[in-house]
Amino acid sequence: MDSLLETDLRRLDGELNRLLGDDALFLETLRSSAEVRILDLACGACDEAGVLARRIAQLRGEQTPEEGPGIRFTGMDLRAREIGWARDRFRGDGTTVYEFLEGDARRLDGHLQLPEQFDLVFMRHQNLWNGRRVWEEIYHKALEKLSPGGRLVITSYFDREHEQALAAIQAQGGKLLVTHRNPLSRELPTPGKSVDRHLAVLEKAG
Ligand SMILES: C[S@@+](CC[C@H](N)C(=O)[O-])C[C@H]1O[C@@H](n2cnc3c(N)ncnc32)[C@H](O)[C@@H]1O
Repeated sequence: MDSLLETDLRRLDGELNRLLGDDALFLETLRSSAEVRILDLACGACDEAGVLARRIAQLRGEQTPEEGPGIRFTGMDLRAREIGWARDRFRGDGTTVYEFLEGDARRLDGHLQLPEQFDLVFMRHQNLWNGRRVWEEIYHKALEKLSPGGRLVITSYFDREHEQALAAIQAQGGKLLVTHRNPLSRELPTPGKSVDRHLAVLEKAG
C-alpha cells in the first residue's frame, strides 16, 4: 500500500500531467531543448524531484541513449539538512542529472554553476504567508530565470495564500495560464490547509 507521501506525489504527478500535457507551446519548448532544465526553488527535501523529472521526461518524449541524460534538475533550499537528504536520495539515472544546492533562492546569481535559464521553475507549497517580502523576491528570481516558452509552476496549501501569490507574481510580470483546485488534495490538520491544494502555471509576460 502507498504511504501518504507516495499518494500525495502520485496525485501531484497526475495534476501536472493534466496541466502541462495539453500545453502545446511548453511541449514544443521541451522537445526543442537539447537539455531540459528544471529549477525547484525552496524545495525542502525535494520529495517531488523524481516524479517531476520523470513527468517532464515523459512529456518530452523518447530520447536515444546517444542524446545523453536530457534533463538537468536543480533543487535549492535554505535548509542544509533537507538538501543533504535530497542529495542522498536522488543520485541521477540515464535520464536526469540531479544537483541540490543549499542557498537563498533570492541570491541565485551567487551560484555560478547555475544555467542562465530554466524551462521549468517549480515551487511546491510556496510560502508567501511566511514572509511577503522574501517571497516576492523569490518570485522575481523565478520569473527572471525562465526561458522563452518556459513555465513557472507553483502549488499552495491555502486558498487565500494561493490567490495572493498569484497576484504578487502577476504584479512582477508573470502571466497566469491556468490555476486549478486539486480535487484529490489531502486535508491537513490545520483548517483550510491541504497538500498541493492549488496548482498554477504561469509564463513570463511577453
Ligand atoms: C512550505 S516549505 C515547502 C517545502 C517543500 N517545497 C515542500 O513542498 O515540502 C517552504 C520552504 O521554503 C524554504 N525557504 C524559505 N525561504 C527561502 C529562501 N530565501 N531561499 C530558499 N529556500 C527558502 C524553507 O526552508 C522551506 O523548506
